[in-house]
Amino acid sequence: MSDKADLVILGISGSLRSGSYNSAALRAAAGLVPAGVTVEIADISGIPLYNDDVKVARIPDVVETLRSRIERAEALLIVTPEYNYSIPGVLKNTIDWLSRTAKQPFNRKPAAIMGASQGLLGTARCQYHLRQVLMCLNTLVLNRPEVMIASAQTKFDAAGQLTDQTTREHIAKLMQALADWTRLIKAGSAA
Ligand code: FNR
Repeated sequence: MSDKADLVILGISGSLRSGSYNSAALRAAAGLVPAGVTVEIADISGIPLYNDDVKVARIPDVVETLRSRIERAEALLIVTPEYNYSIPGVLKNTIDWLSRTAKQPFNRKPAAIMGASQGLLGTARCQYHLRQVLMCLNTLVLNRPEVMIASAQTKFDAAGQLTDQTTREHIAKLMQALADWTRLIKAGSAA
């Protein structure tokens, strides 16, 4: 394998908080990729609230830009907190916008999910809701490994660096599995 990246994974954090553990986990994942893989990080803070009247008039530029970034990437990595046992509104709102674009970008897109919470379940309930939503959009979500980072406040330092070695190893396994999964789907599509 050459050093040149052959897979670009677009990462999206479901938290807008500056000190977000999920955004920190996404940055950590970007540094835990196998050879040939690059993670780019998208920002969803500028996505407006979904309004079908706006959509009928014109898809907002920020939505279209994100749509085309997802389309160009070989795979998606969604890293999200759990809010009230489910998907944070900002992330669901972003998915809803993208789903109403002319060429919705989740269709047949390889993807992986992970999440961090300060509780003990590490976003498990949100992850299963997100899988259900992505199933509606025909996204090819990797089943395993599942990365659910519980008690996140004990696993990152004050600067947002992921210091917990076991979690780093789990994320590295997820990134390897996502790369393998994406290459398998690419090869199948080319055949
Ligand atoms: C939470 N949090 C939370 N945690 C959890 O494990 N299950 C839950 O259902 C919820 N619900 C919830 C709702 C709302 C509105 C907020 C703001 C928070 C706590 C959450 O895990 C914690 O705030 C994380 O630190 C959020 O992730 P980021 O922002 O650090 O990435």
